[in-house]
Amino acid sequence: MSAPLLSVRDLCVDYVTENGPVRAVDTVDLDLSPGEILGIAGESGCGKSTLAQALLRTLPPPAVIARGRVTFEGRDVLAMSEPELRGMRWRRMSMVFQSAMDALNPVTTIGEQLADTILAHEPVSGTEARRRAGALLERVGIPAERLGSYAHQLSGGMRQRVGIALALALEPALVILDEPTTALDVIVEREILAHIRTLQRTLGFAVIYITHDLARMLQFSDRVAIFYAARLVEVGPAATIATAPRHPYTRGLLRAFPRVHAEAGAAESIPGTPPSLRTPPPGCRFHPRCPIAVEACRRERPALLEVGPGHLAACPVAR
Ligand SMILES: Nc1ncnc2c1ncn2[C@@H]1O[C@H](COP(=O)(O)OP(=O)(O)O)[C@@H](O)[C@H]1O
Ligand SMILES: [Mg+2]
Repeated sequence: MSAPLLSVRDLCVDYVTENGPVRAVDTVDLDLSPGEILGIAGESGCGKSTLAQALLRTLPPPAVIARGRVTFEGRDVLAMSEPELRGMRWRRMSMVFQSAMDALNPVTTIGEQLADTILAHEPVSGTEARRRAGALLERVGIPAERLGSYAHQLSGGMRQRVGIALALALEPALVILDEPTTALDVIVEREILAHIRTLQRTLGFAVIYITHDLARMLQFSDRVAIFYAARLVEVGPAATIATAPRHPYTRGLLRAFPRVHAEAGAAESIPGTPPSLRTPPPGCRFHPRCPIAVEACRRERPALLEVGPGHLAACPVAR
């Protein structure tokens, strides 16, 4: 096996609020191989975006990385200086946000933004940067004639494609997609994901794909990580998670998205709601909603244990 591209160990991220810290990423361990697509799923508020921003070190206050290690391309990300971080972001690790409007400048054309991103990081001429900007747009399925357009002149789907072009501009080794298609309709979403898949096969970058839609993620990813209330509860190959999920929460999520099992009936949502991270339940955080919880689940945090090849789950009860 090749050395991991990214390795996360014991990572804890807190939001330091007036009423005390809220731990939004709780002792997370994860590895990512070069060229791999890792999906991250979990209900809204479970810490997915916080984790992504911790990897890029773009967390705004009041968030603080309380503990842990992040190693990317053999370098200690949490020890990097601001100039080192500027050298890593976009060039080696980039991100596409839920709304590309957040990444796009409303007062310059998309061509200028793409060219400026290239010029800021690479010693090329303006002419060369503009040529590459056109090639990037074509690469995400937008005719180069649209270089002179402003973000507001484009549809939501086109803006997301420009966001992807920006993220790919410097040919990074890892692209983090944080709910990149949530605001789009299903057909545009499918087109864009297919497009990213093709680009990923051609260019060979690794992807972390974040979504709350487990069915979509299973189709798109090589490996899948399931988060519940700031903790990683299951991780494994997408095919294994789709057919033999181990954690009761993952099983519940799969039942809630019947597109995975086309023959299944109506969606069956998991009873109850996710806990507040301010006052999480003790032991296994899923126990209040779990159909198979036993007494020990209320007291002890279950360890993430190997249950099959490359398959880990934090549930000692499920079989
Ligand atoms: N600005 C903030 N201040 C305080 N707590 C926050 C803030 N942003 C996020 N959180 C906490 O972090 C948790 C995880 O948020 P987030 O990472 O955005 O979740 P996700 O992306 O999975 O929906 C939230 O449930 C909330 O408790
Ligand atoms: Mg989020």
